[in-house]
Amino acid sequence: MAKITFITQSQEEITLDDNSGSVMELATFHDVQGIEGNCGGVCSCATCHVHVAPEDFDKVGKPDDMETDILEFEDNATEFSRLSCQIEITEELDGIRLFVANE
Ligand code: FES
Repeated sequence: MAKITFITQSQEEITLDDNSGSVMELATFHDVQGIEGNCGGVCSCATCHVHVAPEDFDKVGKPDDMETDILEFEDNATEFSRLSCQIEITEELDGIRLFVANE
C-alpha cells in the first residue's frame, strides 16, 4: 500500500492510498482537482501533469522518451514534471507528494 499526497492549485492537500494502477487513475477516481486523464492514460493529453516534490523524484523516476515528448509542449513543465498516468503505484511510492500542475 502506498500513500500519495496531492496538492492542488488551490493548496488543498489530499492523501490517498492504493496498491496498484496508475497515479492518474487514483486521482481521477477520487476527483482530485486538476487531474482529468482525458486520454484515458495513453500519454497523449497531459491533463494528468504533476510536479513531483523534488525530494521524492528519485522514487518516481524520470519520464521515458514518449512522455518527455508530450511534456515538452507543456508551458509549466519543470525538471520534476511527470504525467501521472505513466506512474504505476508501487509500495516504493509510499509518502510521495505531487503538486497538480493544471488549474
Ligand atoms: S491521462 Fe492523458 S497523458 Fe496522462
